[in-house]
Amino acid sequence: MAVNESESLLTAARQAAQQAHCPYSHFHVGAAVACADGSVVSGCNVENASYGLSLCAERVALFAAVSQGKRPIRLAVSCIDAQDDAAQASKMPCGACRQVMQELMPPEATIHIDGVGPRTIEELLPESFQLKPDAHQSDRAKI
Ligand code: THU
Repeated sequence: MAVNESESLLTAARQAAQQAHCPYSHFHVGAAVACADGSVVSGCNVENASYGLSLCAERVALFAAVSQGKRPIRLAVSCIDAQDDAAQASKMPCGACRQVMQELMPPEATIHIDGVGPRTIEELLPESFQLKPDAHQSDRAKI
């Protein structure tokens, strides 16, 4: 994939992070999903005073894309408050988001992680839990 394709998706993720509702963590995260129809759907983290209700940027973006009838094929995520020299772990997608990516994106999908680089879903979540191994969202029409 062209470098400018991944860069423009990362730019969309960084822009989405500006919308984060994060009064508790003050940690802005943005995600942008490239869809099969060529569109990009973005999302940010949205926190709640009842902390457990908070949602990560990646899931907000993926759920928005799916609810608009779109098929996510690539995702970029940016933790804009993580310093350049911060530990890589502070820039990575959380485990819950990895499980959702696994369900809603094709197995070969690339995840572009700002300040880290590209990863496949298999690299992010090896030996994942799946009830229907062929039922990822890109096959939804066939189920
Ligand atoms: N967060 C994300 O949006 N995505 C991740 O993959 C990791 C964490 C958010 C959740 C919370 O609002 C804040 O970052 C601090 O954990």
